[in-house]
Amino acid sequence: MPETAVKTAAEIRQDFLDFFTEKHGHTFAPSSPVVPHDDPTLLFTNAGMNQFKDVFLGQGEREYKRAVNSQKCIRAGGKHNDLEDVGKDTYHHTFFEMLGNWSFGDYFKAEAIQWAWHLLTEIWGLDKDRLYVTVFEGDDADGLEPDEEAEQLWKEHTDIDPSHISRWGKKDNFWEMGDSGPCGPCSEIHYDATPDKSGSELVNRDDPQVIEIWNLVFIQFNRDKSGKLTPLPAKHVDTGMGFERIVRVLQGKTSNYDTDIWMPIFRAIQEKTGGRPYGGDLEDHTDIAYRVIADHIRCLTVAITDGAVPSNEGRGYVLRRILRRAVRHARQTFGVERPVLCDLVDSVVESLGEAFPELKKDPERVAKIIREEENAFLRTIDRGIEHFHDAAERTES
Ligand code: GLY
Repeated sequence: MPETAVKTAAEIRQDFLDFFTEKHGHTFAPSSPVVPHDDPTLLFTNAGMNQFKDVFLGQGEREYKRAVNSQKCIRAGGKHNDLEDVGKDTYHHTFFEMLGNWSFGDYFKAEAIQWAWHLLTEIWGLDKDRLYVTVFEGDDADGLEPDEEAEQLWKEHTDIDPSHISRWGKKDNFWEMGDSGPCGPCSEIHYDATPDKSGSELVNRDDPQVIEIWNLVFIQFNRDKSGKLTPLPAKHVDTGMGFERIVRVLQGKTSNYDTDIWMPIFRAIQEKTGGRPYGGDLEDHTDIAYRVIADHIRCLTVAITDGAVPSNEGRGYVLRRILRRAVRHARQTFGVERPVLCDLVDSVVESLGEAFPELKKDPERVAKIIREEENAFLRTIDRGIEHFHDAAERTES
């Protein structure tokens, strides 16, 4: 990495947006809400391309052919669901930001590959020896050929070590937003953070030291409800880079949670629970609780701001489960028996409000909804404990 000061998360987000707007003629298209009000196939917005689905399908248009943004995403239900991993590991989140650039029938694989490589290695100065890319190996059942074109473009248009390119199947290298919708082969970029650069065998192995940072999707098909693929009228580019992951890489950390993104939220958790400071340990219950609560309060704050509410069904039920998981950690690990998540909303606004100004509009409303839901759940827990004690007494007597 170049010998410059470590960039803040806000600077990294801005670098990405500037690179595509100023250098490559993209239009900044603000993030859509995490609640996809007009798409019944989705529980939550799970990728930056969701708001452009109509353009990919040839059913809608925009005033621009190239777009860029940082999209608010939730992967806690439906096809892409990371909920159970959150807190236990260093790099999954229910809510996360996805940096993305799109081409609507304009540039295609060559430019997407070249620009991604340029940003990562020249602008941000990542060590090329630590980068690995994957391409689609084809799929007989879907009648799809290997993506030899992408493989060749990586070799011709970048100076990646050719031995760092590998082919993978549909699970890893054919991206689909849901059971139906626009889709296509993709090429992922992975970062090897092992101390001795020995991570070549760890690509796509769910190892925290070698993580996918950027997915370049070449949207060419629509999958209909019966599972059939139909070629789209035009070819498009849809990329997604995990913001929290690239910040971790560029800040030289081994965990997403060790970056400046989380500091205001961890500070607030400590202040409101009276716990000891966050220590970053993977097994320690207090540190797990910090990660769960910090992740979940971001998700709840963003989702409720965007119009969702905890309830008994659909996305409301997913939020209810997320809130209850956070409450259990607050109660069992920090011993806090009153509503506390509601007091953390301001710290989320502090950390995300510049990038997503809608969070600043009415945080009191968000905190109120969370407080009421916490109170209801805490009462349920208390009743459960009472029943348990009654039953235990009866058994003893
Ligand atoms: N749409 C690209 C991704 O989510 O990886």
